[in-house]
Amino acid sequence: MDQTQQKIKAGKKQFLDDLLDLLRIPSVSADSSHNDDTRKCAEWVKTAMDKVGLQNTRIHKTPGHPVVFGEFIKDASLPTVLIYGHYDVQPADPLELWTSPPFEPVIKEQKIYARGAADDKGQFFMYFAALESMIQANELPCNVKVLIEGEEEVGSENLEAFVLSNKKLLSNDVILISDTHMISNENPSITAGLKGLAYMEVELTGPNRDLHSGTYGGSVGNPINILCKMIASLTNENNQITIPEFYDKVVEVSPENRDDMARAPFDLEEFKKSLDIEEEHGEVGYSTPERQGIRPTLDVNGIWGGYTGEGAKTVLPSKAFAKISMRLVPNQNSEEISKIFQQHFESIAPKSVKVKVFAHHGGEPAVTDLNSKGYLAASKAMETTFGKKPVPVRQGGSIPIVSLFEEALDSNCILMGFGLNSDSIHSPNEHFGLFNFYKGIETIPYFFKFFSEE
Ligand code: BES
Ligand code: MN
Ligand code: MN
Repeated sequence: MDQTQQKIKAGKKQFLDDLLDLLRIPSVSADSSHNDDTRKCAEWVKTAMDKVGLQNTRIHKTPGHPVVFGEFIKDASLPTVLIYGHYDVQPADPLELWTSPPFEPVIKEQKIYARGAADDKGQFFMYFAALESMIQANELPCNVKVLIEGEEEVGSENLEAFVLSNKKLLSNDVILISDTHMISNENPSITAGLKGLAYMEVELTGPNRDLHSGTYGGSVGNPINILCKMIASLTNENNQITIPEFYDKVVEVSPENRDDMARAPFDLEEFKKSLDIEEEHGEVGYSTPERQGIRPTLDVNGIWGGYTGEGAKTVLPSKAFAKISMRLVPNQNSEEISKIFQQHFESIAPKSVKVKVFAHHGGEPAVTDLNSKGYLAASKAMETTFGKKPVPVRQGGSIPIVSLFEEALDSNCILMGFGLNSDSIHSPNEHFGLFNFYKGIETIPYFFKFFSEE
């Protein structure tokens, strides 16, 4: 890979300039007022694939945002690596908390600041830089397919159908994804598991209209008071989830595996300091990394109703709402969990309110086989460029398409992310370190090399 590494060195400035261009496109998938930008971004990605030297590049329309595909088939008898990434980004709000505009990327203290810098534009673009360098150096050792979608941040629902009806186009020997983070730049790690997701929305209706809270207060069920009680009852004093059957299918991690995981460096004091919290919180009997990586969780993402404007309005509201998500671990299933949540939530509501429960998109958990060829190739690649063997770490985030890929394409996903959890993905001032961007580009060719070796 010597020629490739030379090409990478020579291309550094251009790669960064191109990434900054990509970051200027506000491809927010959740917000339909950005539909033109999302389309423009898909076109940008296709043009970039052409520049890389990929063949057969195309934009596939879907009922939602398009999927972009390209490939480089050297020889059908060689192994094929499928690269997956997403060009869509999270909404940038609250805008006032950004120190520079989210879609005007700037470099400060060796970091690229922009929405999507780490999640996932900066990470998938590392592959474009690496592949271009490998192709030009004539050192690409196998076949490659690249699939970049535009709906990851909204659940990848249309990608599912695309994958199921394009199994041949996407057939591969391993799927490589950079859309996760490492422990730190000094402690490289590979994501060895992701959580699944069940995302619910609930609506409680009390009286048929908003009421005077003096006249009626205390004599009519207040849906916000009741919703708060219902939500509070979903976890107990040990911070375990109280929904019946919730834990039934959870695969307990063996004590040996827990010991192994505990060897990954983690500094609780540093963790608390970075978040400005006096004490951590979570399920009794598990450490913070375990709570994040191997235990299912339940969180309220938003709650609203009644009067929230300026000043005080005395009102007993008619309605209350909440969005509640559960992160799942093997072998929990998102549909089953959504169903038991719904049954339980309806059963605990008092008769003074009516309840509606609705399930948003979900996703299934995934775990990596640490003895698979793909994991070993990623481990060797990172060891080569970091000078230190990466440790496997299970993470709390979700990438819904991973489990579907593995099933539909009968392949393994390897989650070789180069971000850091301090990158503020989904938050104001998202950023991606230049070190991380370039380290990723440098590492990727070694994955190809080691994966292609017998
Ligand atoms: N890249 C993240 C997932 C991630 C983040 C995995 C950090 C591991 C560590 C991805 O873009 C994401 O945000 N996924 C969503 C899933 C969703 C919208 C269905 C998530 O995890 O909330
Ligand atoms: Mn992502
Ligand atoms: Mn994301």
